[in-house]
Amino acid sequence: MQVLAFLSASGGVGKTTMALHIAHKFLEEGRRVLLVDLDPSVGLSSALLGESETAEMEDKGRTIGDALLRYVKGDRVDLSDYLVEARLGGLRVDAIPGGDSLSDAMGRIWYSGDRPSPELTLRRFLEAAGASRWDVVIVDTLPFYERRYTLTAVYTADKIVVVTHPYGPEPLRVKRMYGKLAEVVSAGVDLKAKVLINKVDVRTKEGKEAYKIVERSLNIPRFQTIVTSRVSYTRVPEMEYLKDKDARREMESLFKEIKDWLSVELAVY
Ligand SMILES: Nc1ncnc2c1ncn2[C@@H]1O[C@H](COP(=O)(O)OP(=O)(O)OP(=O)(O)O)[C@@H](O)[C@H]1O
Ligand SMILES: [Mg+2]
Repeated sequence: MQVLAFLSASGGVGKTTMALHIAHKFLEEGRRVLLVDLDPSVGLSSALLGESETAEMEDKGRTIGDALLRYVKGDRVDLSDYLVEARLGGLRVDAIPGGDSLSDAMGRIWYSGDRPSPELTLRRFLEAAGASRWDVVIVDTLPFYERRYTLTAVYTADKIVVVTHPYGPEPLRVKRMYGKLAEVVSAGVDLKAKVLINKVDVRTKEGKEAYKIVERSLNIPRFQTIVTSRVSYTRVPEMEYLKDKDARREMESLFKEIKDWLSVELAVY
C-alpha cells in the first residue's frame, strides 16, 4: 500500500480533478486503487458518485467520518463496510465517501484530548481496517485553511502532491503553507512532497512563465509536467481527457513522474 495525498493552499486549484485522473491512470495499469474523500464537503464523492448516491451513503452512515468515529471509540472496523464501488472512465474503482460526520470525527480526534497523536489517526485506522489490500490509496483533502485535514493528510501519506496554479497570490500562499507546515511537521514535509502546476493557460503571461513564477516563490521540488487548463479535464468520472490527445499526453507524462517517484515502494508485476 502506497498512500498518495493531494493538498493545496487554496480551494479550487484542481486537487480532486487531478486525484481522479491519476487514479484512472493507476486503474489502467491494473492497480487496485482506493479513493478516500477526506472532505466533509464531499468534492470527490459527488464528482465520482453524483449528489444523490453520496447523500445516500451519508444517510446510511457509510462514510470515512462514520468509520473513523467507530475506530476512535475502540471498535474493530473493516473498510469493506464503508466501500462504494464506482466507475472512472469505465474502470471499476473503490471509494470511501466523505460527508458531514467527518467534521465530527475530526473534532473528536483533535479536540477530545485522549488521542496523543491526532495527526496519525487516519494512517493507523487505514492500516488497522485493511487498506493494505489496495496498491494505491489516494486521499483527497480540503485546502490548508482547514489545518487539521492538511496535517492528517501529510502524516497519512507516503507521498504528497501539492496542487497549485501560477495565477494571483496562489504561489505565495503555497509558500506560506510550506512555512507553516515546516513549523509543525518534524520530518520536513518537502521530503515527500512535490508541487504540481495545474490550470495553466499558455496564452497568458502567467501561463507562459508558470515555472518561473512558481520557482521564484517556492524553492521546493516540482513535477516537470505542467497541466494545462482544458475542458476535457472537467469531464469526470467519464474521463473525457481520453478523447483529447494532448490531455492524454500530459497525464501520461505526469503519471510517469509519479510512478518513478513511488517506484521504490510500488512492487512491479
Ligand atoms: N486542468 C484543468 N483544466 C480545466 N479545469 C480544471 C482543471 N483542473 C481543475 N479544473 C476545474 O476547476 C474546478 C475546481 O477543481 P477541483 O474541484 O478539482 O479543485 P479542488 O482543489 O479539489 O477544489 P476544493 O478545494 O474545493 O476541493 C472544477 O470545476 C474542475 O473541473
Ligand atoms: Mg476538492
